[in-house]
Amino acid sequence: MLTNQKHLFSLPDLPIYLNNAYMGPQLKSVERIGIENLKRKSRPFEITANDFFAEKEVLRSHFAQLIDAADPQCIAIIPSVSYGIANALKNITFDKGDEIVVLEEQFPSNFYPWKVLEREKEVRIRTIMAPPIGKDRAKLWNQLVLDAIGHKTKVVALPHAHWADGTLFDLEKIRAKADEVNAYLIIDGTQSVGALPFSVAEIRPDALICGGYKWLLGPYSLGVAYYGERFHHGKPIEDNWMNHQGSEDFRNLVNYNPEFKPKALRYDVGESSNFVLTPMLIEGIRQLLEWTPERIQDYCRSITEEPLQRLKEAGYFIEDANYRTHHLFGVYLPNASQMETIQKKIQDAGIFVSYRGNAIRVSCHVYNTKSEVEKLVSCFI
Ligand SMILES: Cc1ncc(COP(=O)(O)O)c(C=O)c1O
Repeated sequence: MLTNQKHLFSLPDLPIYLNNAYMGPQLKSVERIGIENLKRKSRPFEITANDFFAEKEVLRSHFAQLIDAADPQCIAIIPSVSYGIANALKNITFDKGDEIVVLEEQFPSNFYPWKVLEREKEVRIRTIMAPPIGKDRAKLWNQLVLDAIGHKTKVVALPHAHWADGTLFDLEKIRAKADEVNAYLIIDGTQSVGALPFSVAEIRPDALICGGYKWLLGPYSLGVAYYGERFHHGKPIEDNWMNHQGSEDFRNLVNYNPEFKPKALRYDVGESSNFVLTPMLIEGIRQLLEWTPERIQDYCRSITEEPLQRLKEAGYFIEDANYRTHHLFGVYLPNASQMETIQKKIQDAGIFVSYRGNAIRVSCHVYNTKSEVEKLVSCFI
């Protein structure tokens, strides 16, 4: 079992930060590596041709290990989730009447790109609404997703855990159903990968797109994406000098080569050799591999289990622990009119959480303690 790891961050004792889902704090080591690498460009003669490529391969192999993907060439370096989704979307052929399954209140970067297709390709977005707050909500929601997948489904575009309240979706079952109709499974892992185990080998997504600045403990503006076989011969949304073959040979760059790099390397964003951000994200993922997502879940469960039980007994709705994550969960108020008072209490106590609709979103990590969660709970009761 992991012990508290706050000493590895520069976080003060106050405020109490229960908002990793908004933005992960920087590890001291990530900060140090960022500053060191920022200074490198003051001496550009020290940046070699090899530096344009070597670190990216380390990032790919670290991320591949984190998500249990056998081949690092399936990993692309992206600046944002919307970018990663755009690359997937560009390589799917849509016909009039095709359906795309999404969830109610899904994060916009995994919604807007699909929504545009309604007008452009006459496809239909099937938004699976969340059942009312109450017993078996997540179980029923999962069933509704499965029921919505049918012969018209072209894409199932989901998160692993809902960004507003951590509701878990059973991606193995959803994959099996999608397989029956040959539909693509595109996952936004931004609010789960890093803190929650994910296995590409078991879930077999067609794409898994992750922003890097939350649970991967990386900097803002750098993310990583897995693309499976169905995308390995696709066309990226941009042609840059590095996603074409032969770019390692700087003298030969204008012997233009129309061939893209293999597999997912073609989807790397332009200027993906980000000398400052790439080493920072590598270090964030390196630390996660040492802790492991399994142990992060266990740690988060250990500091939240009892305090949340008290909240439930006091009448607040929190999803059953088997159907939500332990690092991110929503507390739903029995009465929406209480929101203002509780929000003020939380703010006065110097606690940071997020407010999403009628839910208070709490997210924790290995730098939090049980007594911090207890302080939060005392604002409700
Ligand atoms: C589920 C989810 N996906 C993606 C993002 C970020 O998207 P992008 O990288 O396109 O800004 C967020 C940010 O809150 C998120 O919660």
